[in-house]
Amino acid sequence: TDYTTILVEQRGRVGWITLNRPEALNALNSTLVSELAHAASVFDADEQIGAIVLTGSARAFAAGADIKEMADKTPVEMSLRNPFAGLEEFSRVRTPVVAAVAGYALGGGCELAMTCDIILAADTATFGQPEINLGVIPGLGGTQRLTRAVGYYKAAELVLTGRTMDATEAERAGLVSRVVPAGDLLAEAERVAEAIASKSLPVAYAAKEALRASQETTAAEGLRFERALFTSLFALDDQKEGMAAFREKRAANFTHR
Ligand code: HXC
Repeated sequence: TDYTTILVEQRGRVGWITLNRPEALNALNSTLVSELAHAASVFDADEQIGAIVLTGSARAFAAGADIKEMADKTPVEMSLRNPFAGLEEFSRVRTPVVAAVAGYALGGGCELAMTCDIILAADTATFGQPEINLGVIPGLGGTQRLTRAVGYYKAAELVLTGRTMDATEAERAGLVSRVVPAGDLLAEAERVAEAIASKSLPVAYAAKEALRASQETTAAEGLRFERALFTSLFALDDQKEGMAAFREKRAANFTHR
């Protein structure tokens, strides 16, 4: 496919999406958002893909929504022709997504990382929700997902002041799964994604679905949902194989991967 703002590559069972608008620090314009959603849904529909890695450049994961494209919009345009609708779609892919973040992850860039399941950060990464400096507030989950990730008081400080935080602070706060040296970021992302892709795909889907429920429902509902999903997995050949392999002291050879 001829994408103009992203690069797409399949390596083994891992689908790679690289944001590629270097002239704008990967700012999310409407083209990039729809290309991202499209590429992710193609990977999501492909049984050969067990994990997706989303990354940017060494300088920027994404410096936010494209301010130049947005600046003159009216509320009606933002609503009827919501240029960010594709991000909602991206956030709902069933395949686990690893964000590999180096450089700026600001505004919509930070929010995009937070739609992923795992956030690996280079030690060069910078996170923040600086929208308030532009006379707006986060609009792609920054007040909701960031608050769940780091707690109310940390999120409120970032959203209300627009201050950014480095990778170490982001990891301490719980926004980041792990920080690695910048030079190791992509290799580490590949290792993590391959580890996920080596499991049974329907089981990975179930795990992601249950994890997502923890962010979207009450604890009681989430626990019931988890229990029901867990129970249903006993219908899978891969559950039988995984447990037989343990008893036989060998590696599991899952059918659905
Ligand atoms: C459009 C952007 C951009 C953005 C950078 N650029 N960020 N263009 N939208 N979000 C462009 C610059 O205009 C410039 O192009 C080029 O990228 C390089 O950026 P510089 O500013 O020259 O780089 P530097 O001095 O190193 O500063 C880096 C930076 C700064 C600190 C990241 O670019 C910055 O503050 N960017 C905006 C960050 C931000 O406010 N993000 C939140 C956006 S609002 P030209 O051609 O001009 O030289 C948002 C809302 C989401 O995300 C919710 C929507 C519903």
